[in-house]
Amino acid sequence: MALPIPPKTASDPPRTHSAAEALTPLITSTYRSSDIQFYLNGKKTVLNNPNPHWTLLDYIRTSANLKGTKLGCGEGGCGACTVVLQVPDTQSDKRRIKHLAVNACLFPLVGIDGKHVITVEGIGSVENPHPLQERIAKLHGSQCGFCTPGIVMSLYAMVRNAYDSETKKFHLSERDIELEGHLDGNLCRCTGYKPILEAAKTFVIEDLKGQLAQESTSGAEDEKLEKEVKAFQNGCGSKASKGSCGRPGGCCRDGPSDSSSNDSRSTTSTPPTEPVSSSDEELIPATIDVKKEPKADASISGATYAKPVKSKEDSDGATEIKTTTSLDASLAGSKNGVPYIQFQEYAPGAELIFPSLLWKYEPQPLCYGNDKKIWFRPSTVEQLVELKDAYPSAKLVGGASEVQVEVRFKNSDFAVSVYVSDIQELRRTVLPSDAELEAAKEIVLAANTPLTEIEAICKDIYAELGKRAMVLEALRKQLRYFAGRQIRNVASLAGNIATASPISDANPVLLAAGGTLVAENKSQQKFDLPMSKFFLAYRTTALPPDAILSQVRIPLPAPEVREIIKAYKQAKRKDDDIAIVTSAFRVRLNSEGKVEDVCLVYGGMAPMTKEAPKSKSVLLGKKWFSSETLDAGLTALSEDFDLTFSVPGGMAHYRKVLTLSLFFRFWHESVAELQLGEVDEQAIDEIHRAISTGSRDNHNPFEQRVVGKQIPHLSALKQCTGEAEYIDDMPRYEGELFGGLVLSTKAHANLVSIDYAPALEMPGVIGYIDKDSIPKEANIWGSILKDEPFFADGKVLHHGQVIGMVYATTALEAQTGARAVKVVYEELPAILTIDEAIEANSYFKHGKFLRKGLALDDKMDEAFARCDRVFEGTTRFGGQEHFYLETNAAMVIPSGEDGFMEVWSSTQNTMETQEFVSAVTGVPSNRINARVKRMGGAFGGKESRSVPFACYLAIAAKKEKRPMRLMLNRDEDMLLSGQRHPFQARWKVGVSREGKLIALEGDVYDNAGFSQDMSGAVMDRCLTHFDNSYQTPHVFLRGHVCRTNIHSNTAFRGFGAPQGMYFAETLMYNIAEGLGMDVDELRLKNLYEIGEHTPFYQKIDHDWHVPIILGQLRKSSEYEKRKRAVVEFNARNRWKKRGICLIPTKFGLSFATALHLNQAGAYIKIYHDGSVLLHHGGTEMGQGLYTKMIQVAAQELGVPVDAVYTQDSQSYQVANASPTAASSGSDLNGMAVKNACDQINERLQPYREKLGRNASFKQIVHAAYLDRCNLAANGFWKMPRVGYTWGDTNWDTVKPMYYYFTQGAGCSEVEVDLLTGDHTVLRTDLMMDVGNSINPAIDYGQIEGAFVQGQGLFTMEETLWTNNGQLFTKGPGTYKIPGFSDIPQVFNTSMLRHDNEGKPLSWNHLRSVQSSKGIGEPPLFLGSTVFFALREAVKSAREMNGANTKGWSFDSPATSERLRLAMGDDLLKRAEVVRKEGEKNFFVTVS
Ligand SMILES: Cc1cc2nc3c(=O)[nH]c(=O)nc-3n(C[C@H](O)[C@H](O)[C@H](O)COP(=O)(O)OP(=O)(O)OC[C@H]3O[C@@H](n4cnc5c(N)ncnc54)[C@H](O)[C@@H]3O)c2cc1C
Ligand code: FES
Ligand code: FES
Repeated sequence: MALPIPPKTASDPPRTHSAAEALTPLITSTYRSSDIQFYLNGKKTVLNNPNPHWTLLDYIRTSANLKGTKLGCGEGGCGACTVVLQVPDTQSDKRRIKHLAVNACLFPLVGIDGKHVITVEGIGSVENPHPLQERIAKLHGSQCGFCTPGIVMSLYAMVRNAYDSETKKFHLSERDIELEGHLDGNLCRCTGYKPILEAAKTFVIEDLKGQLAQESTSGAEDEKLEKEVKAFQNGCGSKASKGSCGRPGGCCRDGPSDSSSNDSRSTTSTPPTEPVSSSDEELIPATIDVKKEPKADASISGATYAKPVKSKEDSDGATEIKTTTSLDASLAGSKNGVPYIQFQEYAPGAELIFPSLLWKYEPQPLCYGNDKKIWFRPSTVEQLVELKDAYPSAKLVGGASEVQVEVRFKNSDFAVSVYVSDIQELRRTVLPSDAELEAAKEIVLAANTPLTEIEAICKDIYAELGKRAMVLEALRKQLRYFAGRQIRNVASLAGNIATASPISDANPVLLAAGGTLVAENKSQQKFDLPMSKFFLAYRTTALPPDAILSQVRIPLPAPEVREIIKAYKQAKRKDDDIAIVTSAFRVRLNSEGKVEDVCLVYGGMAPMTKEAPKSKSVLLGKKWFSSETLDAGLTALSEDFDLTFSVPGGMAHYRKVLTLSLFFRFWHESVAELQLGEVDEQAIDEIHRAISTGSRDNHNPFEQRVVGKQIPHLSALKQCTGEAEYIDDMPRYEGELFGGLVLSTKAHANLVSIDYAPALEMPGVIGYIDKDSIPKEANIWGSILKDEPFFADGKVLHHGQVIGMVYATTALEAQTGARAVKVVYEELPAILTIDEAIEANSYFKHGKFLRKGLALDDKMDEAFARCDRVFEGTTRFGGQEHFYLETNAAMVIPSGEDGFMEVWSSTQNTMETQEFVSAVTGVPSNRINARVKRMGGAFGGKESRSVPFACYLAIAAKKEKRPMRLMLNRDEDMLLSGQRHPFQARWKVGVSREGKLIALEGDVYDNAGFSQDMSGAVMDRCLTHFDNSYQTPHVFLRGHVCRTNIHSNTAFRGFGAPQGMYFAETLMYNIAEGLGMDVDELRLKNLYEIGEHTPFYQKIDHDWHVPIILGQLRKSSEYEKRKRAVVEFNARNRWKKRGICLIPTKFGLSFATALHLNQAGAYIKIYHDGSVLLHHGGTEMGQGLYTKMIQVAAQELGVPVDAVYTQDSQSYQVANASPTAASSGSDLNGMAVKNACDQINERLQPYREKLGRNASFKQIVHAAYLDRCNLAANGFWKMPRVGYTWGDTNWDTVKPMYYYFTQGAGCSEVEVDLLTGDHTVLRTDLMMDVGNSINPAIDYGQIEGAFVQGQGLFTMEETLWTNNGQLFTKGPGTYKIPGFSDIPQVFNTSMLRHDNEGKPLSWNHLRSVQSSKGIGEPPLFLGSTVFFALREAVKSAREMNGANTKGWSFDSPATSERLRLAMGDDLLKRAEVVRKEGEKNFFVTVS
């Protein structure tokens, strides 16, 4: 067998010989195999000497052609790459298997030897889905689908581990699903998580062979928690609950049908058709025997849509077909509007088994690689020590969760890597027997035992030994919130300790406990290293280079010892986030209650995990239960950790106050646990969450045959099975090359030189392009104004700007090549923030403003003179990263003929893609076909910023005449693609003494970045939403677009409107506080009334429903009662405060200031078999547009849903398509689809009449075809009425800016921890007016998803730059979006259906398709209800602490840092960090 030759590397240690010399003898003697043998989805696979640079994900996606497993971040932070490893449970004495969800993007390929790898394709397919895949699809748990395979696999591991093959019992509780961290390593940006949890919870009722598993909770703590939450929750399961939770299959609270289904809606576009009565349909329970499941109708073979169907003639002669499609069949019925969904039964026995050959597997020494990198996999510690001795710089790799991040993001290559996680002595912890445990003085953990196993060990021993094992409980608590489950399944303590990260979570506990490490090397064999002496400096330890860590010894105190040890962590997000400050404290008291020993250890406060020395000496010998001791400890701690304002890592004040607060909590907790005396126990409780509940009202009186039905996203099942293709999943083309971008490392600099020659020398690199590759005049683009170069020319204007592109035969080679390009810069001063831009007068030309009332005559002074009170302030609003799960990707295939190119792009904008590819290639647009199948999320981020990537590829494809592909890494995407605009408003508002708004004036600034993109239009929308729902007679608002040296900010769901409405609500709070008035009263007093005008002169018409919505939501959420309860809670609680608010929203629909975009085209072709092909200009990004458009076409043509097919959106089918944006996708394209259907219906009418009511669509169409009737139609629609002209102030002639307003309201209640700034959303109720929803399931998904995205925007999502202008938040490690456990604990969603008298509403002024309303963006602003509820909670804390509550400012986002720093308490003052002259904050926020 040929074995690789070890590389000679620069890092070869001088004391010995080269790697080759050192390792060759070992390779020859011991490491004789270079085969990795494993099972992949049940199939035996052998890889001989694979690419040593590959992770498991690289292998899966490159070689095995399994594209379901996605690359979302490459750093273990999103879970899109999750696969399951099926392995024997080595911790168990029994012959058991277990299922481990792991991040394939980090997992080293060598680690799969001897294991069974299961990917999403291995568990099911569209034809035969796994029950999980089916349920997530049918319960609307997948929108864009990019996160879905990863989530499916995490749940798969959980469900499979829930089955005990010995007892044949299946046990899974809601607690397991939500509170045990099985999903904490997965992110979804679309769904708001609720439907995924609902789908997972359908397994709770599952059981095997009729043995229903008993629900069990673990301990009093959980019961207490659950009780507490139930006290306010109003969902299913609570006594107070009135409504159905909407659980599929019915809820215990479902009452008898109210049978209010009717079709009295008013639609201008479709004559009302008769709804299918729910009583016609059979109700099918949630779980049925799979054998009894009715076979779905065959689809495109013709059976479903072409077989004769029963039909009836409408009175107007139109044919109404009463049939179900295969999709309708799965929505077999509904009761009270709650869809009954039919699932296959889950049968654990039918799952993929563990391959029997693997039971016999014995790991053998393994080695493979090439002259750049080599992997070893020893199978014993002896072999490992031998190897380390021969070559000490060999890099040990355990779970790789640290090492692979270094490889990927810090360019570490680790030429010799050694995989240690399969060495049994290192990974298997042998515990004392039950008999030995009582007397045990320590617990010895094998150093590479995976953290999940350590969690379990800690839990078991703590349960056994109780308080004596408190140290293990402290460790378990830290591990529960340590990374995500996928990482904990593989990562080790050894890896955490050896990394010596200053923010390690395990190290403080081990150090505080007085732990000892056992190391081994060849010379000393085993030797001890006390934790207290292990960390020497930043990421430097006392471990000799030739040694390994083999054990971690944790001492247990003797039973009589009075000792307490606790650990605490504060991060930006509770789940899967590295700490801001992490800590462990241990105190031992003598019989007099005096401190005998104490150890206060912190992470995040110094370059390494650090004990507080002064505090120790101050506390020793003191009586612990004494406020003087507490005080002395706090004083000493602030000296121990006296951070400077400019400390690396920033947040000096917050970190310092956390240091004090966590100790404060520990002191209280220890006094309480040791029963030393009475303390305020409220200081002890941390924020916990309970199992979430919630409802959707699920009642649709407007349901028709197809439109109005809750049909699942038509790609959902494909997304759940991994069959849905995204750009990077498309098959490789012969000769295809991959792009790697060369990005600026400076924020603002002259480009002195660019040397790409070294890149061309790199393996696989074929070429390089930059500004010189295209004519100068083609090197410019822009969405509205062309002001941005494709490639930097002479200067770079932001960190991450594209300088050039290297292309190579693989993506990895292209990226390595790009890094080899040498760029010399001459740095220039950079403007980053809005304040800096104002100071430097750095603006783009904009000049738009809104004037109303006296402002028209420049008499705002007079307006303010009429006010009783005037308030002024400055309010800031931070940006937001889109964080769609699929990064920007494109592929260009040149045909070789006539310059034609097929351009696939993950873009919302086929027209602009086509236009600019045409410009850079010099080929007319008619030879460029821009195509989009689906995007893995976009949210506005791919409306314009996607365009350049297709252009780079087109330039290279033209040059090389070869296909080109590019998918950005997450950090590249975040650097390049811009964000939601940070804003600042400097405002002045005047009111009457009763609180009536009179005058409003403001200068509003957005941070555009280095180019304009759509910043002007975003400003326009902000200004036109600054009113939210309130009438002000005199208004003067001025917009300023700031030019800075950050990436170009762009469209993002809401497009300036959330910023505008946020300012409006901030004003409301400032006024209410200033007047001492109830803010809800103030709101109601100022709500628009029908007939009033906005500051852009749009009349509030009769479809003004905000007052009704507020009234209904106030009632359904029991707002007034809860508001009173919040006041009572706050009066009783010193360390927790609650806040609640109820806020309306009004969102204008249409492309507001780009009138020409308010048009759409559609193209329908009917084939003579009756199948319908539909194209329209809209693109699918998960929002369900294709599904809705197909419903519209199916409804209009009178065919079943699965008779209509949309394959993609392409500029060859629909010319000049507007971007899918502004929530207008359904409005515009729906009308165009309808227009095409109308034409076809008119042509088919004679054949319908001739063939009669029982003729099938196929028969009708076939007859038309034989008669030479045109069965294709091009639909078109332009939005009427709209056409506002800025500056037009003529009330009589001015045209509306918006076609209509989507309206709604939200109510949120929160609880915040005053000591840490941590918070939870206790409950949210949303109500939206969506008109007659085309598909309520999709619209609920949009409402919930937008809300959670808004919640992130207004709370944890904070974009940061370093003070030299580098974007710091460029991956999931530093930028936190909400995860599963951030959503409201009670989450209720409803749609406005009735007026206050209970009569179904009609939308008299709505002229949209099926009288539906755009819903993609409007609910996002309701995420601000969490912000404003938090503001209320903080206000209560400030009142208690005697801090100012009038005219105080609290900016968005409400991060834990901002919350903590706003509390106004004494600890905050004690921890103050004074800014010295010239000191700069480490981080910059640019709002
Ligand atoms: C997304 C993400 C989230 C994270 N969250 C957290 C968190 O919340 N808290 C936290 O503390 N950390 C966190 N980490 C860091 C990391 O996961 C931990 O440090 C983990 O414990 C490393 O273990 P590992 O086995 O994966 O180490 P590896 O990456 O395999 O190795 C890390 C280092 O340890 C060395 N090493 C491994 N085994 C041995 C051994 N037996 N003897 C000597 N040296 C050895 C390696 O050579 C290497 O230098 C996170 C990482 C990621 C990617
Ligand atoms: S791609 Fe692996 S976790 Fe994001
Ligand atoms: S469906 Fe989860 S990210 Fe889009």
